[in-house]
Amino acid sequence: MRNRSADLVIVANRLPVDRVTDDDGTPSWRPSPGGLVSALEPVMRANDGAWIGWPGGTETGMRPFTSDGLSLVPESLSAEEIEEHYEGFSNGTLWPLYHDLVAKPEFHREWWDAYVRVNQRFADRAAKIASHGATVWVQDYQMQLVPQMLRDKRPDLRIGFYLHIPFPPAELFQQLPWRREILQGLLGADLVGFQLPGAAQNFIRLVRQRVGHKTHRDLVYLPDGRTVKAAAFPISIDVDGFEELAASESVAERASEIREALGNPDTVFLGIDRLDYTKGIYARLRAFSELVRDKHLAVGEAVFVQVATPSRERVEQYRILRDDIDRLVGRINGDLGEIGKPVISYLHSSYPRHEMAALYRAADVMVVTPFRDGMNLVAKEYVACRLEEDGALVLSEFAGAADELRQAWLVNPYDINGMKAALRQAHDAEPKEIQRRMRAMRRTVRERDVNHWADGFLSELAATRPDHGKKVRPVGRPEEDD
Ligand code: F6P
Repeated sequence: MRNRSADLVIVANRLPVDRVTDDDGTPSWRPSPGGLVSALEPVMRANDGAWIGWPGGTETGMRPFTSDGLSLVPESLSAEEIEEHYEGFSNGTLWPLYHDLVAKPEFHREWWDAYVRVNQRFADRAAKIASHGATVWVQDYQMQLVPQMLRDKRPDLRIGFYLHIPFPPAELFQQLPWRREILQGLLGADLVGFQLPGAAQNFIRLVRQRVGHKTHRDLVYLPDGRTVKAAAFPISIDVDGFEELAASESVAERASEIREALGNPDTVFLGIDRLDYTKGIYARLRAFSELVRDKHLAVGEAVFVQVATPSRERVEQYRILRDDIDRLVGRINGDLGEIGKPVISYLHSSYPRHEMAALYRAADVMVVTPFRDGMNLVAKEYVACRLEEDGALVLSEFAGAADELRQAWLVNPYDINGMKAALRQAHDAEPKEIQRRMRAMRRTVRERDVNHWADGFLSELAATRPDHGKKVRPVGRPEEDD
């Protein structure tokens, strides 16, 4: 990549592809986990942008390259930075702190130092490759210092920041020893985007209290005359892509195969999550198993398929969670299952989109019960794949998606009895009731797809300084599809 050549630059912790070494030692690329990647791909394609991110692993000196038409700029992390910046400050401090303290955050000064160092390197790289007046869109909690670091070097840029995870209320955020630095880092952006309006309000309040800037509604007034806007842009999915996949014959066939392999039960319950303690997997499996134990659901007639995608496997709390879930599934199947009829079919693996669409098509009840989640795109993917307007969604009140998918069976994942009741209601609901709910949710998801999200953010960003910087092309569908 030549210096100063890109009009749109995405800065994210990870590249959209991950460098992995196969069993025979050959390196290859596979899509990175998480919704961030699938959400940003269409924007990149429409704009010929460049994406700066960590390629996974510790290999150094990798040159920019093109993968599947995307310009990728690898920024490597050393083994120490992976431990301190990624596993440490990002996922041992910020992740639990921003997710309602579902786990206990750890505060270590050397983790913070590594976070600053890595953010600076990513900012320096963006400063090098962004063209004059370009738009730089910084992503997520691992990169919160980049906006101000970048502005210091390149005041000509239009800078946006988007947080994919929740932003906590002041009562939690102020535990962070570096709270002021993080807020100041974010204030380097022209527009700071969040999943939900409550998060934007938390941010504005904290800026007023902790940094002392004047604020009015969604605006922050900086002493140098600049204004920063904070607003909500709920992220979404490539609805057309999922619908097309779900409508394909091969997905329909695979969905029937899955049901057959499960012994053709009457009801398939499904959970698909990154294996993360915020997702509420343990509680949901307990709730389901108690329904089986108490004979509200019969072994063989109902089965729960739980897919858990491996994630952050070197972080202690994730290892503990994996062992806990392994043990729980073993115990439930050992106590309640019958020969050839497990109660829970547990898969610790990640699957391509085709297989995910087949699972969504095969499932009668989708169960999404995080203790706290920025959005949860799995819930939206399930809705997009239910072309026949059937299928029930049980959804945690504490997932961002619950703000939009009001017709789901909403649950408090801390309330096991409440969750059991909702699972039963979803299981017993009349087809008409299921259809009424699913139809409404499908309408919502179709209206607000990922293009709507990206265009909404980028046009708001352009409007923050209309006289300044280059235009970014919208990613909306071609006119004839509208
Ligand atoms: O949305 C949260 C997030 O951390 C994203 O930034 C990322 O794409 C996804 O979860 C997966 O996490 P990780 O990059 O730690 O595997």
